[in-house]
Amino acid sequence: MSRKIWVFDTTLRDGEQVPGAKLNLFEKVEIAQQLKKLGVDIIEAGFPASSQGDFDAVKAVAERVGNTSDIMITALARAVKADIDSVYNAVKYAQNPMIHMVLGTSDIHVEKKFSKSKDQILQIGIDAVKYAKTLLPQVQYSTEDASRSDFEYLWKTIEAVMKAGATMINVPDTVGYAEPEQWGEMIGKLAYRMKNTDDSVLLSVHCHNDLGMATANTLAAIKNGADKVECTINGIGERAGNAALEEVVMAIKTRGDIYNVHTNINTKEIMNTSRLVSSFMGLDVQVNKAITGDNAFAHSSGIHQDGLLKSRDAYEIVHPEDVGLEDMELVLTARSGRHAVKNALEKLGFTNLSADEFEGIFEGFLKLADAKKEVYDHDLYVIVEDYYEKHN
Ligand code: KIV
Ligand code: ZN
Repeated sequence: MSRKIWVFDTTLRDGEQVPGAKLNLFEKVEIAQQLKKLGVDIIEAGFPASSQGDFDAVKAVAERVGNTSDIMITALARAVKADIDSVYNAVKYAQNPMIHMVLGTSDIHVEKKFSKSKDQILQIGIDAVKYAKTLLPQVQYSTEDASRSDFEYLWKTIEAVMKAGATMINVPDTVGYAEPEQWGEMIGKLAYRMKNTDDSVLLSVHCHNDLGMATANTLAAIKNGADKVECTINGIGERAGNAALEEVVMAIKTRGDIYNVHTNINTKEIMNTSRLVSSFMGLDVQVNKAITGDNAFAHSSGIHQDGLLKSRDAYEIVHPEDVGLEDMELVLTARSGRHAVKNALEKLGFTNLSADEFEGIFEGFLKLADAKKEVYDHDLYVIVEDYYEKHN
């Protein structure tokens, strides 16, 4: 039987850390509603200690979107009492609230950022989890910069915070340093040790995209036993962004032969969610972005267009309908062949063209396509009209 992977969306927290992408309360609630429709299991709605505005937005998401038991609402805290209180006071209105806290485990964080010893940091983490547990039953602990941490100290931390009551352990590749094979192996070791310690605690990963490997690292973690993934819509996030939800989810779905896992995501809501996030945040999606880019389902080569019209499987591994688009797009250019042009004309209602008529129109198409980058439907009408004017 396929294993369920929990999807934790952090578009409203890590995603909102993109410069200029600030959302107001209304926009945050709208996006959270759409994320719920998309079927994510957990929404991280913000970092309430950062400002009154963020606190209010997290509280509004908890009240208005977290009002059913099928979704968990969380927000981020550093491992300090004031932050934890702030998260608690904002998320407690949800039916299923969780406190998420973060504290570094790498030498760089422990020694340079905090100027403390490893034992001191470990104790701060344990005390913070124990305190959070007095407020809520669900507590996630993130070992920041895990990919650059000493493995045995990382494990010592995880084991200790599990004993203190953490219900989810999130292992972040904070600076996108991980490499899929190494990362997968490390997650495999943690999964093994965690299952042997307390198998009710979920193991999660949070991958950044600094070397363009966030999706690959997330998938490697799933293969090696991670139960939960943290992602954002369109992969937005700090610096080069986070693992893109749509890429991870569609990879799992398309390559079920490798992963044998499933998510609760309603993939048909992917495009709606992508467009809403892009427009509210004012961040265009790169045209060739996997799954949600404008060109992800557009085909322009004549050879590909001909193949697709014979069998879509020839050049399509993800069907646009599965992510909520109507159809694939055949872009008519000078490289398009007769098959694609005939298909486009038929879609416009020109279904009874004789062979001579079609050849004449195709000639007109080639002339225009040579002069212009793309030929659109309205151009085809003009070409047909022009042909009949000259031949009647
Ligand atoms: O990248 C990171 O380490 C984070 C943590 C807060 C999970 O965003
Ligand atoms: Zn992050």
